[in-house]
Amino acid sequence: KIYRIAVIEGDGIGKEVVPAAIEVLDAAAELDGGFQFEWTYFPWGCDYYLEHGKMMPEDGIEILKGYDQIFLGAVGMPELVPDHISLWGLLIKIRRELKQAINVRPAKLLAGLESPLKNPQNFDITVVRENSEGEYSDSGGRMHQGADEIAIQNAVFTRKGTERAMRYAFELAKGSRGHVTSATKSNGLTYSMPFWDEVFEEVKQDYPDIDTAVNHIDALAAFFVMKPHQFDVIVASNLFGDILTDLGGAIMGSIGIAPAANLNIEREYPSMFEPVHGSAPDIAGKGIANPIGQIWTGKMMLDFLGHQEIGNKVLNAIEQTLANGVKTGDIGGSSTLEEVKNSILQHLE
Ligand code: NAI
Ligand code: MG
Repeated sequence: KIYRIAVIEGDGIGKEVVPAAIEVLDAAAELDGGFQFEWTYFPWGCDYYLEHGKMMPEDGIEILKGYDQIFLGAVGMPELVPDHISLWGLLIKIRRELKQAINVRPAKLLAGLESPLKNPQNFDITVVRENSEGEYSDSGGRMHQGADEIAIQNAVFTRKGTERAMRYAFELAKGSRGHVTSATKSNGLTYSMPFWDEVFEEVKQDYPDIDTAVNHIDALAAFFVMKPHQFDVIVASNLFGDILTDLGGAIMGSIGIAPAANLNIEREYPSMFEPVHGSAPDIAGKGIANPIGQIWTGKMMLDFLGHQEIGNKVLNAIEQTLANGVKTGDIGGSSTLEEVKNSILQHLE
């Protein structure tokens, strides 16, 4: 089986971490023996913008539809291109137009890593964030001026979108430790979150073997820091999930290791796999970026393609590398990107 993957390295350290991750993914495919990757590179991003006045060609989305999945590094050259142009012209455009309605971000305490938490027990959380609606809607407006000015931003929750995120969370929990926590705020929000709670009650009837909990988002954020080991899968709306997943990245130790996936779970269009971090202009071109976020993101792509077994081997190789003290500067080491990649490749064998 050959998977055709569209590769967008993007800007800054994207150009360094993506090739490293591709080497690891090719090695994983070879080790497995049952599939191969065919990578097609698209030079889209801020350099492309500086030359052509847009982040990708007009038919970029149509081109991407012809691939199995998208593997992206990071975009952004804030000194030369305003961030709202680079983000909306590429990343957000792809997420929206390819209907990647589910955002998945694991937060796990990797062996050999120090969490900034005081007494971190071994946590291993997956946050499923609704990625297409909710609080991030374009419904609303502004009116009046001066002291009477008003801004209104409506949150839009559809049954389809809400159910989709929840069912995906329950399905993930089946293959995990069998627990789903719903992030709500139905004590403060009187329409959207009671609806969210109702849908959660309905969906959970279909999964009698899965245990559940319902936490208000404020308490949940506190638990995330105080006792993250009590969570397995968490399902959250767009805004709540956005905040929780950054917190998840923080308690793992560095944004440089945090992976993410934007999924079209219907598989109507390709999904997009991109790490949480940005283009890190402050360290770009120096060969010292941490490639683990991008490599772990590659593991998520392997999982989504149905190759969990080899995906787990990739994560093991990452953990062995860290446990041996082969670490980049962001997590307290002095190794280069190349050294970290080579160590992961070695442990994969
Ligand atoms: P950033 O994530 O690029 O960097 C934040 C800090 O973390 C920097 O000190 C950086 O050196 C460090 N860092 C990030 N990734 C690292 C890695 N792999 N290894 C070691 N250190 C790492 O966020 P920042 O600086 O706010 O944004 C820079 C540019 O990236 C902006 O243009 C922004 O819009 C864009 N961005 C793009 C994202 C994406 O493509 N998904 C996500 C976040 C930001
Ligand atoms: Mg965020």
